[in-house]
Amino acid sequence: MKRRTFCSEPNAAPTKRIKPEEDGKDLIGRDEEVKEIRLFLHNCLHARLGGSLYVCGSPGTGKTACLSYAIDQEVAPVPKLTKVSLNGNMFNSPNFVYGALLHAMTGRTSSSESDSIAGLNKLFKSCKLGKPMKPHNVLYFVLIDEVDQLIQKGHDRQVVLYQIFQWANAPGSNLILVGIANAIDLHDRYLPDLKKEVKLMIFQAYEREQLVQIMRFWMSKETPRFEDDAIELCARKIASKSGDVRMGLGLCRRALSLAKMTLADSVSFVHMKRALSSSSNSAYTATIKSLPLFQKYALCAILRCASLKITIKCVKATYKSMIKEWQLSGSLDSCELSESHLEHLQNNGIVTIGKTPPRKTSSDRSIILKVSPADVIESFDDNSLLTQLASGAKNKSNGTSFYAKG
Ligand SMILES: Nc1ncnc2c1ncn2[C@@H]1O[C@H](COP(=O)(O)OP(=O)(O)OP(=O)(O)O)[C@@H](O)[C@H]1O
Ligand SMILES: [Mg+2]
Repeated sequence: MKRRTFCSEPNAAPTKRIKPEEDGKDLIGRDEEVKEIRLFLHNCLHARLGGSLYVCGSPGTGKTACLSYAIDQEVAPVPKLTKVSLNGNMFNSPNFVYGALLHAMTGRTSSSESDSIAGLNKLFKSCKLGKPMKPHNVLYFVLIDEVDQLIQKGHDRQVVLYQIFQWANAPGSNLILVGIANAIDLHDRYLPDLKKEVKLMIFQAYEREQLVQIMRFWMSKETPRFEDDAIELCARKIASKSGDVRMGLGLCRRALSLAKMTLADSVSFVHMKRALSSSSNSAYTATIKSLPLFQKYALCAILRCASLKITIKCVKATYKSMIKEWQLSGSLDSCELSESHLEHLQNNGIVTIGKTPPRKTSSDRSIILKVSPADVIESFDDNSLLTQLASGAKNKSNGTSFYAKG
């Protein structure tokens, strides 16, 4: 697996530090949140000591965007720091996170879970009971987005989640941990013993006026331009539902393409109204969103097999090479996609699988996508990994890659 270094060399050119008042250039209405995250990071990095932050809030409230910005400003320029960014969605089982962490930090592939834990125990230091905390020469920064995916189903005591937060919260630790998820009560429910140590930040849902500003900002570069009425209508709808700005931006894009299709001079109230009604008709979108990650990968493979006649065999081969090419195997039990996985997509109405042709095998059955590629991509909710997988693009600079000291 390729690793990327974020460790500034001692003689590297100093990175320009952005002053707090310049915070959130592309982030509207989140100045306070960005400031608070930066302060947490700054304090840990300045003292060269660990700590943990849990950022939560409903979908599309800007958690990942704010964290990425704050990390770029505070963490990236710091010397002697190993930075790793993971997404909980990558793991079929929470325990896999240990191996992924060790690999991302050291390049080592461990033979077992206990080997990984032992390796991490050696990396993450803390100070002995009663001894004063000393700044660390080497620090570790770990960001886990969708950290709630590490919750072990059916377990009262969350060993994996607890272990990771425990490393960061041990006195004098050298691990700075940031977890992001939707659940507001995650640390209350699953980390009761560490509740006091883990810093909690809650992102509130956006209100109508904030949504207007954010959507206006992102759509300002588009042509044709958006009429105020169109943005207002969208913001009103979204604010009354979830306050999820991602959903609002998706609707803006849909209205924009409707306007483009009709060669209109502007994106009007009517375009937005149509976008709103067509999105509520798209029943498949919700189904795709709820699919397990590997089935979303399977959909990406189907989109990649952009030939007229797609067969199970071709989707399986594309899936396998895609998983290898993107080095996603660590997140899956194997590179193999079974026919029953594809049949599951059929049961959900997303694809139709044909009959076995005469003198052929079941893997020669054809697959027809019943949802438009645009709707599949839209269901990925701006998840850059999935979007790039579907398009075949090779730029892996997204939150799910590993970043580590080289
Ligand atoms: N305050 C903001 N200003 C400008 N753009 C924003 C703002 N908040 C969110 N966005 C944009 O909206 C989209 C969704 O934001 P983001 O991914 O940060 O949400 P999230 O809270 O992490 O959602 P999820 O819980 O689903 O992961 C991104 O494209 C982001 O750039
Ligand atoms: Mg997010």
